[in-house]
Order: sequence, then C-alpha cells, then structure tokens
Amino acid sequence: MPHADRAASPLASAPGGPLKGRLRAPGDKSISHRALIFGLLALGETRIEGLLEGEDVLRTAAACRALGATVIRDREGRWRVRGAGIGGLVEPPGVLDFGNAGTGARLMMGVAGSHPIRTTFDGDASLRKRPMRRILDPLVRMGTAVVGEAEGGRVPLTLRGPRETVPIVYETPAASAQIKSAVLLAGLNSPGRTTVVERQATRDHTERMLRLFGARISVEPEGAAGRRIAVQGQPTLRGTGVIVPSDPSSAAFPLVAALVTPGSEVVIEGVMMNPLRTGLIATLLEMGAEIERLCEREEGGETVADLRVRASRLAGVEVPASRAPSMIDEYPVLAVAAAFAHGPTRMCGLHELRVKESDRLAAVAAGLAAAGVPNAIEGDDLVVEGLGGKVRGGGTVATHLDHRIAMAFLVMGLAARDGMRIDDGAMIATSFPSFVPLMRELGAEIRDA
Ligand code: S3P
Repeated sequence: MPHADRAASPLASAPGGPLKGRLRAPGDKSISHRALIFGLLALGETRIEGLLEGEDVLRTAAACRALGATVIRDREGRWRVRGAGIGGLVEPPGVLDFGNAGTGARLMMGVAGSHPIRTTFDGDASLRKRPMRRILDPLVRMGTAVVGEAEGGRVPLTLRGPRETVPIVYETPAASAQIKSAVLLAGLNSPGRTTVVERQATRDHTERMLRLFGARISVEPEGAAGRRIAVQGQPTLRGTGVIVPSDPSSAAFPLVAALVTPGSEVVIEGVMMNPLRTGLIATLLEMGAEIERLCEREEGGETVADLRVRASRLAGVEVPASRAPSMIDEYPVLAVAAAFAHGPTRMCGLHELRVKESDRLAAVAAGLAAAGVPNAIEGDDLVVEGLGGKVRGGGTVATHLDHRIAMAFLVMGLAARDGMRIDDGAMIATSFPSFVPLMRELGAEIRDA
C-alpha cells in the first residue's frame, strides 16, 4: 500500500531524565538489501543473519521473489534465499513496488535491467520524485531499453534488458554507491569486464559482497580520493552465509540523543565501523563528543565496536565536503547535534541531500527553524548556529515521508526545552522499526501526539 494512503502518525518527544542503558541498532540497511540481491543472483542457498526487517528491505525481498528467487524467514529469524542465478531471472508478474526505498529500486534496476525481461518499477510519493536518470544513463549504454518512464526519468518506469549487457567503463557523475552498484550489478550479466570509476570513494558493500559470493573483482585507488573498480562478468555466484552488522546510520540517532541529553550514558552495541561509513563519528569527536570504541571485533567481514557515549559539551566545527560520502545519511542528526553545540557548524557540499527521501537540506533547515535554531543554506552548505544546549524547541516538523528527518527531530525534542513534534512517524519503520521502543527503554519520552 503506498504510504501516502495511510493515516499519518504524529509523534512528540520531550525532555525527561538522562538516557541510560544499552541497545543494539538493527542490521545495516545497505548490506541487507545487497544480501538479498546477491542471494537472488547466486546459485544455491544464501543464509542471512541479522537482516534488517524494515519496510524498505522487505520490498527488496518481495522483488527478489518476483524475479525468481525463493525467499523465506526461518523459525530462528534467519533469512534463506534460493537464487535464480545470473541470466536466470524470470519476468515478474506485476509491478515491482519499492515503496520508499531508493537503494532497493536503483540496485534492482541494474539487476533486472541487465536481463532480457520487462520490469516495471514504482514506489511511494517520495520515490516518485527521486531522479533515476543517473541509473538509466549507464544502463542504456549497456544495452537496456527504457520502455516507459514518468516525466524527468522517474518511477513508474519500465525496463527491458538485453540478452547480455555490453561491458563499459563508467565514471559516476555523483559520489553515489547506488550508481556504482547498479552498474557493477548490471556488469555481472556481461561477457566482459565492467569498470566503474568514482572520484570520491563511497560505501564499498557491493564490492565486498561480490568477492564474498565468488566474483572476480579488482579495486584500485584513483586520484586523490577515488577508486577504480572492475568486475569480470558472467561469474557463477555461489550462495553463502551473510552476517549483517548493526547499521551505523541507525545507531547515529541514539548516539546523538545521548550526547545532547544531559547526564546520559549509553552503550550502543556492535556498530559497523567500516571507514566509509564513520564520518559522523569523526565529526562528533572533533566537536568534543565523548565516544569510546570498545571491544572492536570482526562480524560478517566488517569491523564492529560497542560505542560508549556520554553527554558532552560540543563545539561547532566546519565539516569538509570531502567527508560527505562517509556520512551522507547522517547530516539531519548532525544538524541536531550542531544545534546544541557552542558556536556555528558549517557542513559543506550537501547538494546530494536534495535528492534523498526528501529534499533533506530544505527539510532540516525548516525543522531547525521550527525549533528556533538560527540556520542558513549558503549554496550547498548548511550553517547551523549552535545554541549551547539552550534550544527552545516546541515546533512541529514536516517529515515529507523521510524516516531520518522524523528520527532526527524526535532526538532534538529529548533535549529541547519545549520538546518537539513531528507530523508523521510512520516512515521510521522503513529503516529502524524498533526506534521508539528502544529509545523508551533508555528513558526517552516519546509518545503519540
Ligand atoms: C546507499 C547509498 C547512499 C545512501 C543510501 C544507501 C547504498 O545513497 O544515501 O541511504 O546502500 O548504496 P547514494 O548512492 O544516492 O549516495
């Protein structure tokens, strides 16, 4: 059911006591989507532990089924995928509805669009606004036909793939792991080598998983901060075990909540520490946050750590544009931390935020204004005037079907004098369904409003 047809669920948060205790954020969303997709493309069984059972990922599971995989959840909560194999996808009987999920839709365009089947992609009102040209352009070069599309290259759109894709060398026009991944996945059904060049390295979960499932892939440095990734097409991928580590982009919300709520001390367990995902932690440490990385260990091929977080006196900083790819989903909650810091924070180079689940740059600026926090958008930069712990709050934030706007401003309300209200909390279920109950267990006051 499209989310726009649902009744909105407004939520409010208010300052109470300090946050105390331990929690574990759910499985990483990026890895969860990919684990299912690689399961579809592999032969044999893929067993996934710790899959994020959020709405976005469940849409990808449904799409994998429609394309020919068997996907079940066993009694122990493990997910089992019996794949169709590269070249073995079947034409889905109906539209693939990805709901709110940009990652699921875009990666699956690379997968289905590289097969000789006709596939129609659709989503909710938020996904229907998001640009898909960035995926269609390289796919067309690889031989995919765009049979139909909504205005401006948006969903609903229909693809018909070639029997085999043409291998290409493609430089991504934006620092985007979704573009990179769609091209690499399409390259799997090609008789040659497909190469993606990115000027700034982005999250590398696709590359890691290609290797894990048995593809031949090379990754080399490119320029000062980029990478050149090449995959040999038409490998036989073999189903395997995947352990999904905990999502740093979800952990970010209790983490910032503990930093800004006076007297708090919280341990967030098993957070993935992939260096292409830890830009928020680097920034918060520069701001003076007390975050300790405890018990570093390996889980599912990634380093994870328990993070002990204490309420801290934060200072404003300048966040360089070069850090954006490693914290692209964390700016809404960083803006909340910045509001409670002493002095201004400038976040540079945020143009990609305009094409997320909402125009996040505008949504964050409006939310800060509703809370009485002075801020300005200057070109692609956001400048937040830190009020040193004295945020008034009290406003209502328009979430625009964006889970991260919803969670960020609920976090703000835990430490703002008059609390905060959001117009709709329903979208939180796309990435962090247990957010409200887990935060309540730490002592947070969040209620229906
Ligand atoms: C993701 C890549 C990022 C990120 C998104 C997940 C992925 O998007 O914002 O939440 O799993 O590849 P872009 O590729 O558009 O930067």
